[in-house]
Amino acid sequence: MYVCICKSVTDKQIRRAAANGADNLFELRETLGVASVCGTCGPVAEEILDETNQHTQPIMYVPSSA
Ligand code: FES
Repeated sequence: MYVCICKSVTDKQIRRAAANGADNLFELRETLGVASVCGTCGPVAEEILDETNQHTQPIMYVPSSA
């Protein structure tokens, strides 16, 4: 789905950028041009970025002492 109409950027492109290390809107703007024209897409782009980064964080296993 298109997230940024002005720059024709899709949610898949944002997820790919997140997987490649983008972790804030500024970096998305630099790499994809998201939110660089009207800015309407910014909140949704950030939401997708945060959601993607949450799922790509390493899961730490902490054994219980019981
Ligand atoms: S919709 Fe993304 S800058 Fe306008």
